[in-house]
Amino acid sequence: MIGSTSGQRIGITGLGTNVPETVMTNDDMARFVDTSDEWIRERTGIRERRIASQDEALTDIALPAVREALADAGADVSEIDLLICATVTPDMLFPTASALMADTLGMRNAAAYDLLAGCTGFMYAIAQAYGMLASGLSKKALVVGGDLLSKVLNWEDRSTVVLFGDGAGAVVMEPVATGGFLGFELGADGGGGIHLCYPGSGSRHYEGPKPALMMNGREVFKFATRVMVSSADAVLKQCGKTIAEVDVYVPHQANKRIIDYAVGKLGIAPEKTVVNVDRYGNTSSGSIPLALADARAEGRLTDGALVLMTGMGAGLTWGSALLEWSSSA
Ligand code: UT7
Repeated sequence: MIGSTSGQRIGITGLGTNVPETVMTNDDMARFVDTSDEWIRERTGIRERRIASQDEALTDIALPAVREALADAGADVSEIDLLICATVTPDMLFPTASALMADTLGMRNAAAYDLLAGCTGFMYAIAQAYGMLASGLSKKALVVGGDLLSKVLNWEDRSTVVLFGDGAGAVVMEPVATGGFLGFELGADGGGGIHLCYPGSGSRHYEGPKPALMMNGREVFKFATRVMVSSADAVLKQCGKTIAEVDVYVPHQANKRIIDYAVGKLGIAPEKTVVNVDRYGNTSSGSIPLALADARAEGRLTDGALVLMTGMGAGLTWGSALLEWSSSA
């Protein structure tokens, strides 16, 4: 669902990221769960991830990313009228992470709310911000994507604990003179939600061990390989573009094998693909902005570059966006 845009030129004019300082390698992991560096690298491509300290909550990690994005856009906090934070690990359910960050930043003129769409959260959030900006409801928006999944893992479950890491990114979105978002494709399949869930985290009565993220890896793998391709194909079709025209492919960083599968099926050149899952693991809503920042650091986000982003995750959800990069308003 969702489709090509109305033609309003809305782009990303500022980008910032931040990850916790502590690096946890695969060998570190092998000290407390029955795993090995070899298994993790072969099955996932992950070498290390960042893990927040006990005292750090999402907003502590996200705020430096937000400040960097604002500075990058040359935007003052007073100009931001919308702050959406995509996360499944806010500091607490309410007050929302977005309201807390708006307060810390002295952002007095912004509507602020959290958005929950699993690892696809950032894709949903940029589509929402696009809609608000294109309709004129918002003039300048800040979208944050970040998670500290380390806080909700069962640290005795080797099948999940090795996959995830903590991190956040933020973008400023506003009208641009050239380029901008060309289209979005978003979807959800709650029927498959059971394969990646967090029972005991909400109002549904739960009896069992301490609530933690639970995943049926094989089922999510099948889902992921399917939607990473179908969603990208759909957004390209809606926008009248072909995969050959894409300059930079930014897939959700969950597993290198999933990325390789999508690259092969879509027929996109591996050198156009951004991969940093080896350094960060799966940072959920932080994944796409962290990958975008790496692409920019490598000089790949030149003005006019066609950028394809696809996320997928809990819900089950998926989402793609096609963006003609244009860094100035
Ligand atoms: O944003 C979306 C989030 N999630 C994902 O995208 C995850 C999608 N799924 C995956 O990436 C993969 O399914 C995993 C990486 C989770 C697992 O890889 P797999 O190749 O599907 O492994 P498997 O689940 O089929 O397990 C193979 C074996 C099992 O042992 P047996 O039954 O063959 O004896 C597991 O118990 O590997 C074992 N295993 C491990 N061994 C060492 C599972 N986790 C580990 C581990 N270290 N950490």
